[in-house]
Amino acid sequence: MNDFAGSHILSVNQLDREAISTIFATANTMIPYAQRKKRTQVLDGAILGNMFFEASTRTRVSFGSAFNLLGGFVRETTGISSSALSKGESLYDTARVLSSYADVIAMRHPESGSVAEFATGSLVPVINGGDGTNEHPTQALLDLYTIEKELAGNVQSIDNMHIAMVGDLKFGRTVHSLSKLLAQYKNITFSLISPKELAMPDEVISIIENAGHRVIISDVLEGNLNADILYLTRIQEERFPNPEEANKYRGQFRLNQHIYTQYCKSNTVIMHPLPRDSRKEANELDVDLNVNPNLAIFRQVENGVLIRMALFALTLGVADQVTQHESEVNWFSRK
Ligand code: CP
Repeated sequence: MNDFAGSHILSVNQLDREAISTIFATANTMIPYAQRKKRTQVLDGAILGNMFFEASTRTRVSFGSAFNLLGGFVRETTGISSSALSKGESLYDTARVLSSYADVIAMRHPESGSVAEFATGSLVPVINGGDGTNEHPTQALLDLYTIEKELAGNVQSIDNMHIAMVGDLKFGRTVHSLSKLLAQYKNITFSLISPKELAMPDEVISIIENAGHRVIISDVLEGNLNADILYLTRIQEERFPNPEEANKYRGQFRLNQHIYTQYCKSNTVIMHPLPRDSRKEANELDVDLNVNPNLAIFRQVENGVLIRMALFALTLGVADQVTQHESEVNWFSRK
């Protein structure tokens, strides 16, 4: 994919290494605006339709913030029950209608393939904010961007790294999308640690193996944490046919500072797409890690704004005009 302007972003399968580089280079140019050192009005007058038909904190608000930071306006719909989808309107018709009110749409929906179906009816670019267990391409991009930056700080690269993915690898769409992006790099070791019933789908493992990477599968946490990147995930209770069943797996894999010190490398980077489940019965990523400098979870969150700004600038064809619409920030801004 070389020509972003006017294109949908539905799957990481669209993105080759060149496209990823373009997105990351554009994200780097967004740092002064995201940090409120400068402002830009490059999207003054443009409207984002932020359509979230499934719960979200980070993705929904960061899409909105990213668009506002580029000077655009945001219209939101949240929840199927408050839209005409609950009256039987098709995704195609919904897209045809909503896209006539907006210049670009970000969408999340609980069913796999729904965002692609929606895009067939859209008059404007659609960006997938997560569709069921299928994909979460913008999360995968921000994760990859974070991995590249964190490893650079450790004088390492994505090629030849060891990543351990832990938790619900069956229903967790972030690990599906991230694995497919990582498969484009060289000589990576993937440790896939999950309960047997929540293993990474065979389709994703085949993509990794066919690209020549090493895969280690385990249902034991200890002994498999000596990785460069440790990517934990939540048990996705909302995807279980019977949500009570999720209780069987909650709390099976917990990371805290004691376990980190015992089993990880001194510079293992800790990542999680968030939300982390901090309820007592889960506590998958203990708050005692909050002071660990290798905890990258809040840096992931900040990188998410940069990636989403980049995608808006690219899909709306203004990435080369951002500085022309620049001005000073005249309010107090954080360090
Ligand atoms: N990582 C992520 O998708 O978080 P939200 O569900 O809060 O958007």
